[in-house]
Amino acid sequence: MAKKTTQIAIYGKGGIGKSTTTSNISAALSEMGYKVMQFGCDPKSDSTNTLRDGKYIPTVLDTLREKNSVKASEVIFEGFNGIYCVEAGGPAPGVGCAGRGIITAVELFKQQKIFEELDLDYVIYDVLGDVVCGGFAVPIREGIAEHVFTVSSADFMSIYASNNLFKGIHKYSKSGGALLGGVIANSINAPYAKEIIDDFVAKTNTQVVEYVPRSVTVTQCELQGKTTIEAAPKSAQADVYRSLGKKIANHTESKVPSPLEISELRQWASKWGDYLLSVETNTVRTENAANI
Ligand SMILES: Nc1ncnc2c1ncn2[C@@H]1O[C@H](COP(=O)(O)OP(=O)(O)OP(=O)(O)O)[C@@H](O)[C@H]1O
Ligand SMILES: [Mg+2]
Repeated sequence: MAKKTTQIAIYGKGGIGKSTTTSNISAALSEMGYKVMQFGCDPKSDSTNTLRDGKYIPTVLDTLREKNSVKASEVIFEGFNGIYCVEAGGPAPGVGCAGRGIITAVELFKQQKIFEELDLDYVIYDVLGDVVCGGFAVPIREGIAEHVFTVSSADFMSIYASNNLFKGIHKYSKSGGALLGGVIANSINAPYAKEIIDDFVAKTNTQVVEYVPRSVTVTQCELQGKTTIEAAPKSAQADVYRSLGKKIANHTESKVPSPLEISELRQWASKWGDYLLSVETNTVRTENAANI
């Protein structure tokens, strides 16, 4: 009997570190002996390239345009440690819905029973942005993913994007959609950044899964076209990604988040703004953060 495949979707604001984090999670899970597929859902089709020495792979939509029909074997490529890499791709620039690639690729894989055939433990979708509409909502809306994680820094726009994602999850949860596993806090170096994220998750009934520091090791490895786990396996940053991978592997309970209304979010942000300003001007001490 085929084992159960756990499907996970990772969302977050553009450029926040989704593909970097996802690729390192895939690498960590594969090191633990799991069979993993990373499914890039961004029309830029650059999710999996650090699993393949910086090389890009043909996308499902490009292959479909060329040949009119696609066999799964033509769009699944092997990456680091046997990780299966797929890029859904997007429409020709300026034409059609950017989420088309996900809809098409997911449908194709379902029809051909690919996940069952490959006997996968994990499929991880790396999904563009916070836009929970069109194809980008597919992993949540259609009950494809079981758990959703969001990558967020402490920057307001990133938190805003995560809050929007929470609204989408909240909405689709009523019709059997995916639930939220938690927030992967990325680029957290300053103590105030951790406090901001901690406060946001407390207010929205979720949790931080891991704090990932911003690290030059990630940059160096990316420049070599590799994940941190592959190119700097002994680094402290690789261990952070391994710890994250373990937490994701052990994660079972996801829940419905409580997104903030936009006015609440603005008010919350401006309180933090006032607080940070007062820290900068030395009118308060940082231990006061818990009381803001
Ligand atoms: N913890 C980190 N430390 C150092 N650099 C990081 C970290 N996380 C992400 N980066 C860098 O930030 C940049 C953007 O990351 P990435 O491509 O993973 O973001 P993304 O959310 O997938 O972007 P997009 O929305 O464009 O797909 C990359 O150059 C990556 O190396
Ligand atoms: Mg990306």
